[in-house]
Amino acid sequence: MSKQFDVIVIGAGPGGYIAAIRAAQLGFQVACIDEWTNAAGGAAPGGTCTNVGCIPSKALLQSSEHFDHANHHFAEHGISTGNVKMDVAKMIARKDNVVKQNNDGILYLFKKNKVSFFHGRGSFVKAVEGGYEIKVAGKAEETLVGKQVIVATGSNARALPNVPFDEVNVLSNDGALRVGAVPKKLAVIGSGVIGLEMGSVWRRLGSEVTILEGLPTFLGAVDEQIAKEAKKAFDKQGLKIELGVKVGEIKTVKKGRNTEVSIAYTNAKGEEVKLDADKLIVSIGRVPNTNGLNVEAVGLQLDERGAIVVDGDCKTNLPGVWAVGDVVRGPMLAHKAEEEGVAVAERIAGQHGHVNFNTIPWVIYTSPEIAWVGRTEQQLKADGVKYKAGSFPFLANGRARALGDTTGLVKFLADAQTDEILGVHIVGPMASELIAEAVVAMEFRASAEDIARICHAHPSLSEATKEAALAVDKRTLNF
Ligand code: FAD
Ligand code: NAI
Repeated sequence: MSKQFDVIVIGAGPGGYIAAIRAAQLGFQVACIDEWTNAAGGAAPGGTCTNVGCIPSKALLQSSEHFDHANHHFAEHGISTGNVKMDVAKMIARKDNVVKQNNDGILYLFKKNKVSFFHGRGSFVKAVEGGYEIKVAGKAEETLVGKQVIVATGSNARALPNVPFDEVNVLSNDGALRVGAVPKKLAVIGSGVIGLEMGSVWRRLGSEVTILEGLPTFLGAVDEQIAKEAKKAFDKQGLKIELGVKVGEIKTVKKGRNTEVSIAYTNAKGEEVKLDADKLIVSIGRVPNTNGLNVEAVGLQLDERGAIVVDGDCKTNLPGVWAVGDVVRGPMLAHKAEEEGVAVAERIAGQHGHVNFNTIPWVIYTSPEIAWVGRTEQQLKADGVKYKAGSFPFLANGRARALGDTTGLVKFLADAQTDEILGVHIVGPMASELIAEAVVAMEFRASAEDIARICHAHPSLSEATKEAALAVDKRTLNF
């Protein structure tokens, strides 16, 4: 006998678990299926984000930042620490505990919202009258029928051709988050978000980190001025980033009792180089995941990248089947997945769920942090938009000086005629938090003048945001 639901969600990452909770809040009978299993064999909902993505990476970034501060910044405050040591096993255990708290939190939320959770792999069996039959293959096998199905099966790390992840020497994001000891030499391929964040973690802990990037431009999607400022800071920290390289053969070689990785590449000058490293992180993007979903059984359409084809409302080619998050087009970000999950649940309820793709913030959690929303200066130029720019350096911000972190700036881009904010770009301390004001402003279609006229607390980093807005009209007060 199959169990009947109004809504079945496949995947309990940020897209899926949020969609399930919102659908339950709207009064539907909801099932959520997820196959992620922890080391003890239990369910670990939360997806990539919770288990091997956003949360554990930020836990390690935090630990490594404390270590870096203790080593390099405490002394200027008059704090002497002596020889600072890092217990990597303890750091990893703390990270695992943070992950577990989040897994448990989601299970609690499912209970609280009366979402029925199934631990196992969900797959399409067939379309039935008024819905779809879904099989759950877990410890036991179950059959569910849902009137509506939301697919939120996420993404997987992309491997280099012929270089599979062994998670010992050649690491995906998964292995990169559970390295047992500080590698002496760490190589990273891809200077995108993961490369920079994970490269920063291990550099702070003492690894000699070399990041090899295929493109000749550093962080091409970021505003050029901001990317340049960030690169300067990373260079100063000793994060070695080589742009415009062509990666060749990658071999694992035995070195005594250990194995190492040897990476051959051609550098931007055309020279052949060989880089030996204890570990290699390959972070060259992610691929949508529909493994084991049995999309063929119902004819769910995928594009050439393997992503589920959806329209602007996350509707697939099948009636009553929706897809959200990394498995569909658009930026692979947890908050984008969540917004789509909420919007789909509301659309199923006949409401007007809405996601504004123009105001999705991006954050790179390096030090300095990089955050932005809206268009970059180079995009505005390419689009032929007439704009005004204003920026303000953290060097002139009192709170930043008190913090001892004056790297970077806030930059506003506003329409030349209407003054509407078109983009805000930040590199510097707490950029991840500061960007929220810009997102709110853009969501309300505020002008730079609106921000310039709002009272901001003193002393706070947010005053740099106000001053950058004032700079659009060339009237900064503190610079
Ligand atoms: P996922 O989180 O991938 O979840 C999909 C879930 O579906 C998984 O639990 C999987 O087990 C399950 N599943 C798949 N197929 C089936 C099936 N057939 N049956 C049952 N279950 C199935 N984004 C940010 O916004 N901020 C960050 O700081 C950030 N940091 C990141 C750091 C790293 C190292 C990585 C790798 C990613 C990071 N991301 C970050 C991206 C973020 O993790 C993803 O955008 C987000 O997890 C996507 O959510 P999702 O729900 O679409 O998919
Ligand atoms: P990415 O797309 O951010 O960066 C990949 C980089 O690898 C690019 O610069 C690309 O030019 C380069 N590259 C690709 N192929 C290459 C090759 N063969 N040789 C050398 N360089 C090559 O992808 P990444 O870092 O793997 O992260 C995946 C996604 O996960 C991100 O796009 C983002 O959506 C998400 N993420 C978000 C985070 C955040 O929001 N803070 C943190 C980490 C990941």
